[in-house]
Amino acid sequence: MAVIRQEKRRLDYKKPDFTITDIDLTFELDLTATIVTAVSRVKRLTEDRKIPLVLNGDSLKLLDVKLDGAECAFRETENTLELDSVPDEFTLTVKTCINPKDNSELMGLYVSDGKFCTQNEPEGFRRITFFTDHPDVLARYTTHIIAPDGAYPFMLSNGNLIKDEVKDGKRVVTWEDPFPKPSYLFALVAGDFDELHRDFVTCGGRHVDVYLYVDKGQASCGTVAIDSILRAMEWDEKRFGLEYDLNRFNVVAVDFFNAGAMENKSLNIFNSKYVLVDAESATDTDFENVLSVIGHEYFHNWTGDRVTCRDWFQLSLKEGLTVFRDQEFSSDLCCRPIERIKAVNIIKGPQFTEDAGPMAHPIRPDYVMEMNNFYSVTVYDKGAEVIRMIHTILGEELFQKGMKLYFKRHDGCAVTCEDFVSAMEDASGIDLKQFRNWYSQAGTPCVSGSLRYDAEKKQAVYTFNQSTPATPGQSVKQPFVIPLSMALYGSDGRKILLKRNGEPVSEVQILTEEHNVVVFDDVPERPVTALLQNFSAPVKVEYPYAQGELETLLKCADDPVTRYESMQNIINSYIVLNTVNAQRRLPFTHSELVVQSFRYILEESGLDNRFMAYILRIPPVNTLMGLFTAIDLDAIIASRKELVRVLSVELADIWEKLYQKLLAEFRQRLAEGRGYECTEEQIGSRDLIRVALNFHVRGLVLKGEEAKASAIVSGHYRISDNMTDTLIALNAATAHNLESRHEILKDFESRWRDNALVFDNYFRAVASAPYPDTLDNVRKLMEHECFDLTNPNRVRALLGTFSQLNPECFNDISGRGYEFLTEILIKLNGTNPHVAAAIMTPMLNLNRLDIKRKGMITDCFNRIMRIPGLSDSIFEKIDKAFK
Ligand code: PHE
Ligand code: ZN
Repeated sequence: MAVIRQEKRRLDYKKPDFTITDIDLTFELDLTATIVTAVSRVKRLTEDRKIPLVLNGDSLKLLDVKLDGAECAFRETENTLELDSVPDEFTLTVKTCINPKDNSELMGLYVSDGKFCTQNEPEGFRRITFFTDHPDVLARYTTHIIAPDGAYPFMLSNGNLIKDEVKDGKRVVTWEDPFPKPSYLFALVAGDFDELHRDFVTCGGRHVDVYLYVDKGQASCGTVAIDSILRAMEWDEKRFGLEYDLNRFNVVAVDFFNAGAMENKSLNIFNSKYVLVDAESATDTDFENVLSVIGHEYFHNWTGDRVTCRDWFQLSLKEGLTVFRDQEFSSDLCCRPIERIKAVNIIKGPQFTEDAGPMAHPIRPDYVMEMNNFYSVTVYDKGAEVIRMIHTILGEELFQKGMKLYFKRHDGCAVTCEDFVSAMEDASGIDLKQFRNWYSQAGTPCVSGSLRYDAEKKQAVYTFNQSTPATPGQSVKQPFVIPLSMALYGSDGRKILLKRNGEPVSEVQILTEEHNVVVFDDVPERPVTALLQNFSAPVKVEYPYAQGELETLLKCADDPVTRYESMQNIINSYIVLNTVNAQRRLPFTHSELVVQSFRYILEESGLDNRFMAYILRIPPVNTLMGLFTAIDLDAIIASRKELVRVLSVELADIWEKLYQKLLAEFRQRLAEGRGYECTEEQIGSRDLIRVALNFHVRGLVLKGEEAKASAIVSGHYRISDNMTDTLIALNAATAHNLESRHEILKDFESRWRDNALVFDNYFRAVASAPYPDTLDNVRKLMEHECFDLTNPNRVRALLGTFSQLNPECFNDISGRGYEFLTEILIKLNGTNPHVAAAIMTPMLNLNRLDIKRKGMITDCFNRIMRIPGLSDSIFEKIDKAFK
């Protein structure tokens, strides 16, 4: 029988016919047969009494249904439970049986390493009981968890602990959440953990017990996370005036989790990757991620839980806003320019790629088949950029005024992106009508600018044209409101004050038309123009920089993002030039300006180590693909390799000296007995030593001094007292295919094979190496005792790294990479299709690749499309790729 698949449309939204105001849930826990009794207070919201009550269900065994305590007629279909002619108000009791242990999809109630936990966003609750599983049904939850006494020392759910008693050998724990919430925020956890506790007093004087639950024996790895919760609570009060609203806040870390973490009301559940860190086993990045993910989930308490989404098309309402909030949190606590550059790299890499492919969608999508496919870089990260643009246009004060109005109007409600924008508009008095195009239109706008300087009038006249390429289902685009932050510099590198008609004007120029003219007066000479300062809009910019202008910006701009972007521009122009050379079989053009600029940065700029390391970053192949409509992968890879070669060889002395200097400082730290610390200063040294080591090693290898390179890397591995330096060495050994990789990998394996999260670094190092034997090594590692195809972290570390971060091997012209991933996708389709769909992204580029690769991917896709029981997650992506 052919499966009929249907997309849901945003515009088909209908108010619910029924709501459930209160639900009393009882869980009789059992690994393979948990009995769930749901007693719901149902209310009809429509006039029409003929409309049946329709409850969603998925993979449930129905045991019993009662209406006001009595038998009643009902209909069970594949995915619903329906009741005709029900009263206007009644109590519905539904008893179901579920199997948490065999729940490999990790949606609903499942077992992670012996512990019960839940994941209900977006549509997991219907795998627990029959329910109106839509975010616009807000109910008060009471939860009773029943298990044999002693079986699960911790039994948690949302809200306040009401009762904890033992009867006839059974423990019954009752929780009550006073805040009405959508079903996707329901959570339950039961198991044995180590418990960490902190006290917090809110600005309003409320005492909050903060608890963190981690695997037994891991308490010492939880202190950073629990302290981050307190920092997040404090920051949200200070910056947004938002106070925590219950007396208890719990975070639980589990090993099996599809995403990063989940903001269930007062019971956040985390992937342990974003909780467990300590000086010995975690990298600088791991530490930073813990702070930002803890912040993110905590901030959802207001932007997500107190005010939630009316329907899933509105996902960016909570995610874009909450990513913006967590970015601001990290920026206020750590280093703002670095945080900004990290965010920019996500947009210019994966987000621009998504916009250029078959899955392109607006931050508020119009059509969705499988909601899990829309937890995307577009909804999250571009969504955050859209909020940031509102912030840029309104300024902090009016933005906060808008937030206040938003909460005043919508606290306790399920609302739309439109409601958010309206609140911003009404609070600020600034018209955002046209701005709303950012919510409705997909694709990356391109702004192309040019300058005419009128020496007589001392005027700089800019013309900016915007255009947005067609995306699936949207061929014609209306112009966007683009806040373009600009600065003008004189030839002496000094900033020219922006003036118009004798008055100073803002650096942020708002472009609203397809063609825009922007004039500045009193400009004494032809200026050097900084465009899109601080990446003020998620757009591409084209501007014909004259000889030397990018260098001026690199050296003189006061905005760090402009300096960073100038170097990226310099690099990109050579990548494009040499990609074309490679395609035409012409010799490479010497990357003179990149070499000079690198030399300047390294020897004269006086930049701090961390920023220097970022500015010396060569964009990865995946991001470089975005520079081309048609991707000639081999030419891009060759061009990038050539750039790395030139920089390694021509600056060999500088790299060596820099590495030696940083290494000496490292040794000094060790000699003085100063331990690892996750401070900006120490992170900076490690970020830069990574860059220096890799260029130095590459240079040696190219000179034929492989043995020396190998020795330096194993030396680095040996002196390391922290995971970041250890991985700098491990990754250098695999990335440059050094002899020492064998011994380093072996040592790492023996030291860390018992710590799965740390061992993932081993998988990543092997899977990202750009060498012909990598695929064989990856295959072998699938047999490793640490690998587990049912654990999403393992899958992402080994297989996701191979498909997403090793474009050279994955896209090998033999097609082996595609064949391999196809096998994996077919396997995962039957167990965890959401994780499968997430790692197949690189195959969606097929239409921009060469004809041979496109053909091979098409064959793989055809094969997948024919498998029985193909999930919507995978089907939707392939189907779109074929259109
Ligand atoms: N809502 C979670 C977050 O961003 C993400 C999530 C989505 C987690 C779906 C699991 C499943 O904070
Ligand atoms: Zn979120």
